[in-house]
Amino acid sequence: MIPPKPKPRPDRVSLWRYMKLFRQDLLSAQPQRLYRAWMAEFRTPFFRSYLVNDPALVQLVLKDRPRDFPKSSRIAEGLRPLLGNSVFLTNGEVWARQRRIIDPAFEGGRLRDSLPAMWDAACAARDRLTAHAGSTVEVEEQTSHAAADVIFRTLFSLPIEDALAQQVFHEFRAYQRSQPLLNLAAFLRLPRWMPRLHRRGTSTSAARIRALITDLTTRRQDQIAKGTAPQDLATKIMTTADPETGQRFTTAEMVDQVAIFFLAGHETSASALAWALWLLAAHPDWQEQLAAEARALPDRPGMADLSKLRLTRDVFRETLRLYPPVPMMVREAAQPETFRGRAVRPGAQVVLSPWHQHRHDRLWSDPDSFDPARWQTEAGRASARTAYMPFSAGPRVCTGASFAMAEGVLLLAAILRDLRLGVVPERTPDPVAFLTVRARDGIWLRIDRR
Ligand code: HEM
Repeated sequence: MIPPKPKPRPDRVSLWRYMKLFRQDLLSAQPQRLYRAWMAEFRTPFFRSYLVNDPALVQLVLKDRPRDFPKSSRIAEGLRPLLGNSVFLTNGEVWARQRRIIDPAFEGGRLRDSLPAMWDAACAARDRLTAHAGSTVEVEEQTSHAAADVIFRTLFSLPIEDALAQQVFHEFRAYQRSQPLLNLAAFLRLPRWMPRLHRRGTSTSAARIRALITDLTTRRQDQIAKGTAPQDLATKIMTTADPETGQRFTTAEMVDQVAIFFLAGHETSASALAWALWLLAAHPDWQEQLAAEARALPDRPGMADLSKLRLTRDVFRETLRLYPPVPMMVREAAQPETFRGRAVRPGAQVVLSPWHQHRHDRLWSDPDSFDPARWQTEAGRASARTAYMPFSAGPRVCTGASFAMAEGVLLLAAILRDLRLGVVPERTPDPVAFLTVRARDGIWLRIDRR
C-alpha cells in the first residue's frame, strides 16, 4: 500500500491560483515535475525563487558556503514576536555564539542524561493511549502532548501535568492556530502594501507564552544561584559559558532559546510520531516486529538498550523520509550566484525541500513506498547520503537531531510494547503542510491492548 501523498497541482497555474493553493497547503501547491527536477525556478511579479533538489547545490547552500545563504528574513518576520533573538532566527556571529553555548548540552554523551526523563514521558503517553483501548482516537493530539511532555521533563525536570507547563502548551497551540500564513509569508516576498501577516491574536498569545517561559527561567536562575537546580538541559545551557568569550546567556536570551526548543522540538517530533504510528498501523508486519523488539527492553532502558532497537530506528528514519516534519527550508542568496548555468540574483529565495528530495524519482528507488528495510541496503544508504535531510545539514543542522531520534524510538517502543494499532479505513490521513507536515483532519487510529 502506498502511503498517502498530496495530489500535485497542474504544471501551469496563474499566480492568483498559486497563492490560493499556497494558503491552503504548501505541498499541493507544487507541481508533479518537482519530484524529478534538479532545480525549478518560480517567477512572479514580486519575487523569484529557486527550489533546488540537485544534491550538489544542496551541499553548496547548506554545507560549503552557508554564510552566503543566510536564513530568509521573511521567516524571521513571522516568528519574531514569539522567538525573539533565538538561535533559529539569528545569522552570523550572534548565531555562532549561541550555538557554542547550546550545542554541548545536546552532545552525544549528554543525551544519556535525558533518557530517563524521555522514558517517563513515553510511559505517560502510553498510559494516556491505553485509556482509549477498544476505541478509535486522534493521535496527533496525543503525540503533541507527548512531545511537549518530553521537552518539559528534559529541559525543566517538570512533567507537563505541572500547571505551568500545561499552560505553556495550550498557549503554544493557540499561537500556531493564529499563524496559518507563516509559510506564505516565508515564501512570497510580498510587497509592503499587502495586509500584514500577523493576525490579531498572535502578539498577545506570543506575549503570554514569553511571560510563562520567563517565569520558569527566572525560577531556574534562582535555583542555580542557590545550588539546588536539577541537572537538566536548562541548567546545562544556563551554566555553560561561551568558550570564546566566557559569557553566559542572560535570562532574556535564555527565554528566546527555550521558546525555540519548545516550538522546534515539539511540533516536529509530534508530527513524526503521529505519522510513524499510522504507518505502523497500516503495516502490521512491521508493527509486530517492532513490538517484539520493544518487549526485549528492560524496565528502564539506557543508551545500550536504545541502540538495540534497530528496526524501530529504521521505521522512524523511513517515517522522516516520507513525512519530513519540516517539509521545506528557505534561504536567501546574499550575492550573485550561478545555479546549473542560470543566474541567481542577490535576494532571491533558495528553497531546499526535504519533501521533494526524499521522494525524488532519480535519487531513491520506489520513493513513495514505505520500506524500512531499505535502510539496511547499500542502495538505500547511498540514497540517504545524498538525498536525506530531515534535520537539515551543515552548521545549521538541527541541534536536537540525536535527541529527536532517541525520543522517537523510545516513544514507539513504549507504545508498541503494550498496544496494538489499527487503521480506521474511512479515515485515511491526508498530508498538508503548515508549520509542519500534518494531516488535514488528524490521524485516527484504533487502539487495542496486546
Ligand atoms: C523529529 C524532530 C525534529 C525535526 C524533523 C527537526 C528538524 C529541523 C530542521 C529541518 C531544522 C533546520 C530548519 C532550517 O534551517 O530552516 C531544525 C533546526 C533546529 N531544531 Fe530541530 N527538528 C526536530 C526536533 C528538534 C528538537 C527535539 C529540538 C530541541 C530540543 C530542536 C531544536 C532545533 C533548533 C534549536 C534549531 C535551529 C538550529 C539553527 O538554526 O542553528 N529540533 N530542526
